[in-house]
Amino acid sequence: MEIRKLLRSDENELNNLISVIEENLQNKDFWLPLKPTAKEHFFDDKWTEFYGMFDGTDLIGAVALFYNEYEYGESLQYLNSGFTNVAEIGRAMVHPKYRGNNILFHLNKTLLEVAKAKHIKNLIATIHPKNIPSKKSFLKLGMKKQCTYIKSNGYLRDIYLLTL
Ligand SMILES: CC(C)(COP(=O)(O)OP(=O)(O)OC[C@H]1O[C@@H](n2cnc3c(N)ncnc32)[C@H](O)[C@@H]1OP(=O)(O)O)[C@@H](O)C(=O)NCCC(=O)NCCS
Repeated sequence: MEIRKLLRSDENELNNLISVIEENLQNKDFWLPLKPTAKEHFFDDKWTEFYGMFDGTDLIGAVALFYNEYEYGESLQYLNSGFTNVAEIGRAMVHPKYRGNNILFHLNKTLLEVAKAKHIKNLIATIHPKNIPSKKSFLKLGMKKQCTYIKSNGYLRDIYLLTL
């Protein structure tokens, strides 16, 4: 197994994994609908960086680091102060056959190092309160729950924060 940054040449693999994830959602409230604008920027380093776990040549898990307020701006409004140097960990996905092996945690740890190297100070994540695997994984990373809110599109989310 190997973790590495996803490149545009991995786009098909990522899209295939997203399809598998969306076809196998246990709870549709855990996964926000993908917006075309977000997808357009999946390989735009100023907006988004995905890291993936590979089993041989197969992409079996991926998580993104978002550097743009298009993704996390709404959450920022619910945090206390005017945060700067923010990034969000999101779009966590692990192929159903590989779940429960701490793959999400290993990917998150990699993203944490990437964020530190980029001098990010505030790492946030938003999770549905009942999404236990994500919650356990983000708590293990040292993130702390700040508050709960309902997004403008109706999705309930807890906001987690880690100050780096
Ligand atoms: C959320 C998701 C990425 C987790 O991936 P994963 O690699 O299986 O997660 P991990 O193995 O790191 O599990 C994290 C923890 O949750 C536990 N866990 C996993 N599934 C669980 C379940 N159904 N109930 C309770 N605990 C569970 C694991 O044992 C692990 O606990 P540990 O740290 O004590 O060992 C995966 O379930 C997924 O792709 N879900 C669909 C997409 C989605 O909803 N994404 C969330 C968007 S934020």
